[in-house]
Amino acid sequence: MSKEIIVSPSILSADFANLEREIKKVEDNGADWIHVDVMDGHFVPNITIGVPVVKSVKAVTKLPLDVHLMIDNPEKYAKDFIQAGANILTFHIESIGVNSELKVKSLINEIKNSGCMAGMSIKPKTKVNEIMPYLKYLDLVLVMTVEPGFGGQSFMSDCALKISEIKKYSSEKLIIQVDGGINDKTSKICTNYGAKLLVAGNYIYKS
Ligand code: DX5
Ligand code: ZN
Repeated sequence: MSKEIIVSPSILSADFANLEREIKKVEDNGADWIHVDVMDGHFVPNITIGVPVVKSVKAVTKLPLDVHLMIDNPEKYAKDFIQAGANILTFHIESIGVNSELKVKSLINEIKNSGCMAGMSIKPKTKVNEIMPYLKYLDLVLVMTVEPGFGGQSFMSDCALKISEIKKYSSEKLIIQVDGGINDKTSKICTNYGAKLLVAGNYIYKS
């Protein structure tokens, strides 16, 4: 974690019939974390991975599991994903309601008290000021550079501007992660703005 840039391949673009092999492949190529995209068909229009798969993935890798919850009511499921082996648990501010400050803080506390890193994600249309009150409590902020839901979409460059905005208002310790349309070119834009953690699905698994 002392590395300058952390790479977290998203297994959403992997061959699900051969997940263990697909994970080993990125491990051998220097991946730092494994990004797991959890979608419920409500918060986003797609259904992907749930608790049992996270548990199975945990059994075949020593890399930290970076679990990205794109689900409604994340507070209801956080414990299950932590018990399944998440090391980093990230939920969307939009999934919990922007006027639910107490609920949000209590979820952050629950995640941190269980020994996990707590992350908060923002969709492309959400403004940075919505997450401002929480920056000091978080370990990580995930800036979405596509609409969450599917891999293989094009990078939205406007969203990357949020990275420097968040950086301006947060401490050095806060990790800024980007997710969506990351490749060799877009990754440079993001790291120049101050992102430290890059998620990539298609670029890694389909190339
Ligand atoms: C999208 C997911 C991403 C996705 C990224 O909702 O959060 O993690 O897998 O895929 P690429 O890198 O293909 O845009
Ligand atoms: Zn993701």
